[in-house]
Amino acid sequence: MLHALRLILSIATICLAGLAAASIVGNPVRGQQLFSRCSGCHSVQGENKSGPPLKGVVGREAGAVEGYRYSPALMNAGTTWSEDALDNYLAGPTKAVRGTRMTFSVSREQDRADIIAYLKSLGGQ
Ligand code: HEC
Repeated sequence: MLHALRLILSIATICLAGLAAASIVGNPVRGQQLFSRCSGCHSVQGENKSGPPLKGVVGREAGAVEGYRYSPALMNAGTTWSEDALDNYLAGPTKAVRGTRMTFSVSREQDRADIIAYLKSLGGQ
């Protein structure tokens, strides 16, 4: 009996842990506000600033905007910007892609999720 109870408890704990991991849901409205941290270097439309434009970046290959001069590191990263890959890059760009010229990072997980949700809401190119 006690055994069964322990089993149920541990299953419940695993389920709760799963819920916690999935509970970081990005808020695109907040993400748009947070994007002011990025907009000095990134437009969302076509224009190149010191960084490439980011509309359509979710699901795009890294280093793919024509006419933008990327670092060789990002060009050769072989990464596709899934939400996970973006999260990782924003958390620590130079760790995620050694030699990338972007050094700005976003430390809060919720902020990253919100920014990614905003970028996603912009749709493709
Ligand atoms: C100080 C300037 C600067 C800021 C601020 C900045 N970036 Fe960047 N970002 C860059 C540069 C420069 C690159 C190109 C890096 C390279 O070529 O290695 C880049 C590249 C990127 C890429 C890869 C794009 C691609 O086409 O592969 C993403 C995604 C990105 N930045 C997202 C962001 C987000 C989101 C923010 C705000 C939280 C942000 N950046 C803030 C300068 C910046």
